[in-house]
Amino acid sequence: MKIAIGSDHGGYRLKEEIKSMLVELGHEVEDFGCHSCQSVDYPDYASPVAQKVAEGEFERGILICGTGIGMSITANKIKGIRCALVHDTFSARMTRLHNDSNVLAMGERVIGPGLAKEIVKVWLETEFEGGRHARRVEKITALEETRG
Ligand code: RB5
Repeated sequence: MKIAIGSDHGGYRLKEEIKSMLVELGHEVEDFGCHSCQSVDYPDYASPVAQKVAEGEFERGILICGTGIGMSITANKIKGIRCALVHDTFSARMTRLHNDSNVLAMGERVIGPGLAKEIVKVWLETEFEGGRHARRVEKITALEETRG
């Protein structure tokens, strides 16, 4: 799978670990930064990842900051993005089954790397269920046209 990944300084270390795992699993990964623990602004890294996923250049995006909150808020400003902030494997599975999320956000200061890796695996492996959930996702998409 083609995956775009990004973090701020608060998520840098976990991003590096997740990136290595994804490469080991055979995914094609592009890293949109940041590239150190030096303080940066998370919207500058969430935005390009979300844009590339929205444009269809990447199937999925993964964003990591201290809490995952800033990344998810930013990514969800981009038309076509359904970013889920997830810190447990149940939600990782459900947000694929029911929300067809295309970007995953996590917080390095919230969970450890072991759980984060399991979340990423479950999120990548789970297919969207469609059916009644497709109708609901369409209603989310329709809201993008009503934004002022
Ligand atoms: C950076 O200190 C921190 O605010 C950021 O990583 C993130 O948690 C924001 O939501």
